Amino acid sequence: MTEQVTQRFQVQPSTRVEGAIQVPGDKSVSHRALMLGAIATGTSHVTGFLPGADCLATLTALRNLGIEVRQQDPTTIDVAGQGMRGLTPARHGLELDMGNSGTAMRLFMGLLAAQSFSTELIGDESLSRRPMERVARPLRQMGADIQTRNGTPPVRIAGGRNLQGIRFDMPVASAQVKSAVLLAGLYATGETTVTEPAVTRDHTERMLVRLGCPVHRSGPAVTVTGGARLTAARIDVPGDLSSAAFMVLAGCLATAGELIIERVGLNPTRSGILRILALMGANLRVEMAPDDGGEPVGRLVVRPARLRGVEIPPELVPLAIDEFPVIFVAAALAAGETVIRGAEELRHKESDRIRVMADGLRTLGIDVDELPDGARIRGGRLQGGSIDSGGDHRVAMSFAVGASRAAGPVTILNTANVATSYPGFVAQARAIGLDIRVSGDE
Ligand code: S3P
Repeated sequence: MTEQVTQRFQVQPSTRVEGAIQVPGDKSVSHRALMLGAIATGTSHVTGFLPGADCLATLTALRNLGIEVRQQDPTTIDVAGQGMRGLTPARHGLELDMGNSGTAMRLFMGLLAAQSFSTELIGDESLSRRPMERVARPLRQMGADIQTRNGTPPVRIAGGRNLQGIRFDMPVASAQVKSAVLLAGLYATGETTVTEPAVTRDHTERMLVRLGCPVHRSGPAVTVTGGARLTAARIDVPGDLSSAAFMVLAGCLATAGELIIERVGLNPTRSGILRILALMGANLRVEMAPDDGGEPVGRLVVRPARLRGVEIPPELVPLAIDEFPVIFVAAALAAGETVIRGAEELRHKESDRIRVMADGLRTLGIDVDELPDGARIRGGRLQGGSIDSGGDHRVAMSFAVGASRAAGPVTILNTANVATSYPGFVAQARAIGLDIRVSGDE
């Protein structure tokens, strides 16, 4: 905790953003490659893996559950899958530490609900405040024995339960909830169907199909059938569009240069940010690579543009759910007003992103009204100053990019968690022209 508070970014204004980069691997896909690889039969070879703290929490937990994971180098790994029933009781007591990662905790809940042994999932201070009943409830309906502490971690999962398939109308649009129920469904009797209220990322479904497990989609409903077997495969993890989004923002806000981002994931269930920035007037070119049966990938070419405020279309909110810190900053520097509604979920992320973003922007001189499910942001000029990221990686990186266009130097406190999703962020940001320095990291 002390370490998190002391690490800070110091950002000086800059104008030119240029170069060609590849951002680290997709966080969502990396977690799934490990978990699904672990329960497949045979060794899955994973390239482009994200060696960020979140995915390493999943990797360590799987090793603890008896899975051999060989890291040939930080981004190339082999997962020696032991089949659907190959996980073994945690070696060091019941506890598995998920760190800062909501994805790890929620997906493991689904995977572990059906095991013969008991486990307990714990997390850091931020994760320990996040809602877990949204996953526990449907899993209990399936027959799982799961306890939360007033709805939050630690999460205790008792082993030895037989699960039954359910039809679950998911009340929140959450890929984590959907994925947890589908993972449990692989072990349940009969069919498990999850209906989503809005489209959420479909990485789990795609990877299941890749590993030979049939997944049936009918409109908003996704069905798996218990008793399937997964077969190991090669998994090429694309660059994380959520990480690329910070650099895309930098390219938009610059006054000169051209930025190219290679081999980035462009799954349509994730690419809401590109559509929102295009509505705001961004100068963005998307070049899709040929389909190779994995996740859609391609290259982005970004040039500076004068952004304008917009009303964010509600149907794009779940497709850009992780990019709202970026959108708040884009809105703060756009001409006119931006209205964000229907984004209440932002209050349940690594921080309350509506509050933390609104507070930070106000501190830097922007006129923001906080709404229960979003914000109204009147674009202006960012002033120099000091703000707190609330320990939230995406908040820290968004402010770091926005600060490069501020009238004076900006200090961003509490930035150590950037390593959860984007190791090397500062080096890469500096390489394309931003002036960010890290201090207090002793
Ligand atoms: C994720 C789903 C999203 C997202 C998170 C990763 C995933 O959360 O915010 O960063 O990998 O499934 P919700 O599904 O809870 O919205």
